[in-house]
Amino acid sequence: MLSALNTLFTGQMLMRLEAVSSTNDYLRDLVRATNTAEGAVVVANSQQAGRGQRGTNWHSERGKNLIMSVLYRPTFLSTDQQFYLSKAVALAVSAVVRKFTKANVQVKWPNDVLVNGKKVCGILIENLHSGADDWQSVIGIGLNVNQSEFAPALPNATSLSQVTGAEIGLNVVLYALCEALEAHYLQLRKSVTALDERYLQELYAMNEWRTFEASGQEFSGCIRGVNAAGKLLVEQASGKLHAFELKEVKLLA
Ligand code: BTN
Repeated sequence: MLSALNTLFTGQMLMRLEAVSSTNDYLRDLVRATNTAEGAVVVANSQQAGRGQRGTNWHSERGKNLIMSVLYRPTFLSTDQQFYLSKAVALAVSAVVRKFTKANVQVKWPNDVLVNGKKVCGILIENLHSGADDWQSVIGIGLNVNQSEFAPALPNATSLSQVTGAEIGLNVVLYALCEALEAHYLQLRKSVTALDERYLQELYAMNEWRTFEASGQEFSGCIRGVNAAGKLLVEQASGKLHAFELKEVKLLA
């Protein structure tokens, strides 16, 4: 069945590439060189130098998964509100993963999407600033759709088809994702805090005592939320609440 894209602007400019170093880099270079429309999407069959968070690489089997970047201009957010975009994107992806799998979907801070506790999607948001209040966001999304095997180094990775047992057309997922991204983005534009409650409802390990690592030390802590700057709020055994940045803390188990 042919599916139609039902959006106002997300994916209306759609560039399909066979291979690229990184869709984020491609879109960033395009934005720098031309006046690119908001909602422009770059999608690729494979990446030679896909990038992940914390300086990691992102590997994705050729033609099996969704590898895409989308351009938004969320100038309604101040520079210290940038985490709100990350929340909106993670919730959009989680809604799509839920739609296709009907399984238990959660967001692992800051924006990994987990299905049945395993990572199905990674998100890398990179902002391009061209003035104090003028900035654009390149939102990179790697959603595992039909990959059936992952490297032993990634025991916690999964795909939509691994969960459902059936292959899913990449275009159907792409269009669903464009629609969900736009709906969440427009919601954010109306009210910056509209998605706060849902983000906490979907947050992995929220209010559970777990083992974390910070400054090379393991400690027992409990996630109590995320502050306005996007820092993770972890209660420690002493009862003290500590706000961690992405590079400062790791949830171990
Ligand atoms: C992570 O979980 O570490 C984030 C992974 C983000 C991967 C996507 S794939 C499309 C886009 N292009 C990239 O180079 N990275 C992002």
